[in-house]
Amino acid sequence: MSENTPLPALPPVLSTSLAGRAALVTGGSGGIGAATCAALAAAGAAVVVHYSAHRAEAERLADHIQAAGGTAVALGADLTEPVGASRLIEATLAHFSRLDILVNNAGQYTDGPAVAAMSDDQWERSLAINLTAAFRCARACLPFMKASGWGRIINVTSQAAYTGSANHAHYAAAKAGLAGFTYSLAKEVAAYGITVNLVAPGRILTDMVRPHLEQRLEEWMRQTPLRRLGQPEEVAAPIAFLASEAASYITGATLHVNGGLLMA
Ligand SMILES: NC(=O)c1ccc[n+]([C@@H]2O[C@H](COP(=O)([O-])OP(=O)(O)OC[C@H]3O[C@@H](n4cnc5c(N)ncnc54)[C@H](OP(=O)(O)O)[C@@H]3O)[C@@H](O)[C@H]2O)c1
Repeated sequence: MSENTPLPALPPVLSTSLAGRAALVTGGSGGIGAATCAALAAAGAAVVVHYSAHRAEAERLADHIQAAGGTAVALGADLTEPVGASRLIEATLAHFSRLDILVNNAGQYTDGPAVAAMSDDQWERSLAINLTAAFRCARACLPFMKASGWGRIINVTSQAAYTGSANHAHYAAAKAGLAGFTYSLAKEVAAYGITVNLVAPGRILTDMVRPHLEQRLEEWMRQTPLRRLGQPEEVAAPIAFLASEAASYITGATLHVNGGLLMA
């Protein structure tokens, strides 16, 4: 830095605050989704805590955010239904009159058989929630984000998309599909001030992995250089960063949050 170079502003010009923004977190009733709602609300965003089956959990979290001085509402939708996404976006706009941040986090991880024995139905159900739902939510948000000239779309994929996972081809393929979707959309909407990124968690301690702990915890710990599972908050914090102004030059990127399980 030469003597004449202006010094960086203090506080920094690019803030991590989300004050004045409205966010929708799909799967807000689940582990990573709930932590993400809390992180976005703590940064100042008004948050839609989306749920499908677990309404009570979503309402409890929305009440908790409100009680802490934030703004939140719980809204339900089955995102495997063709109209689920568009109705959810309509309801979000009806509540907050804006939508700046979409976190496509809802997902399902089911044990399948090997590909040779997998039914069309198992395959299609995984694609419906893990890939198509994200496409439909993003498509429904775009007119509003484009009109405002600012937007953040963060798609939650999985390390399985990059490593593969035997007996989970339906899940890994859907999550890998999110990558091509993210990169393509990032190119389409960059000119509108909208960034689109991927967050790829490794093994995170939520209800999704709890049923597998007894059998697989030791193997997972061995594979993970940090020698532990991640906490939902450790995925939520990078999501909140990507949603902020501080990440304004990041689009079409993948942020791996996996304790070193996969270094890419
Ligand atoms: N935990 C991990 O180790 C891990 C690793 C890699 C990637 N991920 C990804 O991270 C995301 C969050 O996972 P999590 O671990 O927090 O799992 P989780 O606690 O099981 O939460 C899953 C969320 O998805 C929602 N959901 C499921 N089916 C839905 C449907 N048909 N329509 C709408 N919403 C639906 C659930 O809503 P209801 O419960 O209200 O039905 C729930 O809020 C998922 O996309 C997952 O694939 C997780």
